[in-house]
This record gives sequence, C-alpha cells and structure tokens, in this order.
Amino acid sequence: TGGVLADRYGRVAKDLRVSLTDKCNLRCTYCMPAEGLPWLAGPQLLSDDEIVRLVRVAVERLGVTEVRFTGGEPLIRPGLPGIVAAVAALRPRPRISLTTNGIGLERLAPTLRAAGLDRVNVSLDTLDPARFAALTRRDRLADVLAGLAGAAAAGLSPVKLNSVLMRGVNEDEAPALLRFALEHGYELRIIEQMPLDAQHGWDRATMVTADEILAALGREFDLSPDPAERGAAPAETWLVDGGPARVGVIGSVTRPFCGDCDRTRLTADGQVRACLFATEESDLRGALRAGADDEELARRWRTAMWGKRAGHGIDDPTFLQPARPMSAIGG
Ligand code: GTP
Ligand code: 5AD
Ligand code: SF4
Repeated sequence: TGGVLADRYGRVAKDLRVSLTDKCNLRCTYCMPAEGLPWLAGPQLLSDDEIVRLVRVAVERLGVTEVRFTGGEPLIRPGLPGIVAAVAALRPRPRISLTTNGIGLERLAPTLRAAGLDRVNVSLDTLDPARFAALTRRDRLADVLAGLAGAAAAGLSPVKLNSVLMRGVNEDEAPALLRFALEHGYELRIIEQMPLDAQHGWDRATMVTADEILAALGREFDLSPDPAERGAAPAETWLVDGGPARVGVIGSVTRPFCGDCDRTRLTADGQVRACLFATEESDLRGALRAGADDEELARRWRTAMWGKRAGHGIDDPTFLQPARPMSAIGG
C-alpha cells in the first residue's frame, strides 16, 4: 500500500472516473450519431468484480479519495447498485458520485442511496420538451425531471445539473435553466462544448463561450464571486443574488483548468486514461486477466499517470481529437 498517482507536472490524481458502459439511451446530437456507435462487445467490458478490483487498487494503493461513475449512461448497467455497495465498503471509504442523463433515476435513486451513493450530476440541456426531443433524439424530458426529483427525495446531495449550450439550439436557455435550478435547489453548471463528439463536428466558432454564458446570466441575476475554495473543480462558481445558491460555468476550452486537474480515468474496457484528451491508454484489463497482482496493477497505473500531458492542447495548431469519443471515455 501507499503511493500516489503523480505526474511529472506535480499534479496528484485523487478523483477516479469510471465509465461503466459506452452505451446510452439518448442520442444527443453533440455526442453521437442517430444510429449510435459500434458498442464495445461483452467480453471487452470489465465485469462488475473486475471494476471493483481496480477501484480497490486505486483506493488502497494509489490515494484515490473520490470515485465517480459515468458512461455512456451508467444507469443502464444492471450491476451498478452492487458496484456502488462494494466501493462504499472500501477503506478509507471514498466519496461516491454519479454522472447520468437521469433516465431511470427516479426508480433507482433510493437503491443507489442505500448502496452508498453520495451525490449525482444530471445532464439537462433544455426545459422545452420539443427541444429536448430534437437535441437528444428521444422524447424523454419528463423522465429526466422525475429522475431529478427522485434523486433529491432519496437524499442524494447536492444534485447538480450539467447543461451544454449550442448556438441556434438552446443558447438562450441559461437564465431559464438557472431559474429552474434555484426553484428546486439544484446546482446548475453550464458547460462549454469540447471537441469530443463521435462525429468530429465540433467547431470553435459556434461554441457558446464562458464569457457569453456569464453575460447572459448577468443580465437577469446578480452574480458575485464565490468565496469557497475552487480546488480542482472544473466549475468556476458564482453566488446568485448574494447566495447561498450558486451557479457554475465549466469553461474547459476558453478557461482551461488542466493545471489543477486531479483526475484519472478508467474506461469500460479497462483502459487507464490520464486525460480526457489523452492519445494513449494503458491496458489494465489485459494485465488483470493475465493474473497481475494488485501491486503490478498499481505500478502500471502510476506509470500511465506519469505520462499525463500538461494540458488538453485544443488551442495547438496540431491538435487532434482523441480516437475515443466522450461517450466511451466518460465525462
Ligand atoms: P463535480 O465533482 O461535481 O464538480 O463534477 P465534475 O464537474 O467534475 O463532473 P461531471 O461528470 O459532472 O462533468 C461535468 C463536465 O465537466 C463535463 O461535461 C466536462 O465538460 C467537464 N469535465 C469533467 N472532467 C473534465 C476533465 O477532466 N477535463 C475537462 N476539460 N473537462 C472535464
Ligand atoms: N463537451 C462538453 N460536454 C459534453 N458532454 C457530452 N459531450 C460533451 C462535449 N463534447 C456532457 C454531457 C454531460 C456531461 C457528462 O458531459 O452533456 O452533462
Ligand atoms: Fe448519452 Fe450523455 Fe452522449 Fe447524451 S451526451 S447521448 S446522455 S452519453
């Protein structure tokens, strides 16, 4: 035991993000095509036990203190409650969070809370049912709203909302989303779109920027700097009308936070990624299935993180999108 996930730039990863599946029950236009993607095949996926084993190595030997489950859509993985329970039994117990599109959360929230889930972040880009159906290609806004209510009722706290704004689609909705969040006690974060879509259609010129988001919110609300420590959080936060309510802006592209990044990632097929934008992965599944012991897995993980790049490099003239789309990396 002992050891940490340090890189050559002095950053230490304490936040592990685990993708449980690359599949999703929505088809957000900025994420994947209508027909979906060539999904990972069953044998490629880590089993529930393999996931728990790798998370255990991260917690016991590598200093990970926060575990977030993502996807694709993590709620479609049947073993999720069991995985959460097993991770909650690790010592020292990590904090456990989930990033989800909210579909099915109404039904699952009490089970997940009982298993040890602490909090959820739910994607919600629009409050208009027709826009939601166009944007996600599925008519399921009501399920998401019920999921949010179910999460709060089950005691998951805080409940955060993640919204990506797209020009000509929902770029006018920031104030409405904030009013909705304030009304329900959710914490809204508005996100700049990143070049991680499967279709490679991202365009800097159409991206709604953090400056624009703040200007739009500032016209309807009084925003003051949040005195709370930001730490390694992607969201820069403001107090709304004096607080205590807050709103966040995740300006990954125009206000990068890579210098403070504390993340390490595990894909659903058992590859460690040091960064969302990494072009290299480290195969822990192969090592695990070949019989590697915990210390060998930890050693490989440390080596992978040491190679983490300084930043996402989106502004470099030579920038290339990673081969894996966001839906297969985990947000
Ligand atoms: P909290 O711990 O609640 O602050 O969660 P989070 O914001 O770290 O995680 P979440 O899964 O809710 O991600 C929200 C958004 O943050 C994603 O859509 C991404 O746009 C962005 N994000 C998450 N991780 C990274 C990262 O490592 N790098 C960059 N550039 N953006 C990230
Ligand atoms: N850029 C920024 N955020 C994205 N998300 C999905 N694709 C992108 C992208 N290209 C968001 C989802 C979800 C979160 C986990 O990531 O909307 O809220
Ligand atoms: Fe699914 Fe998230 Fe991609 Fe939308 S953005 S299709 S909810 S994985």
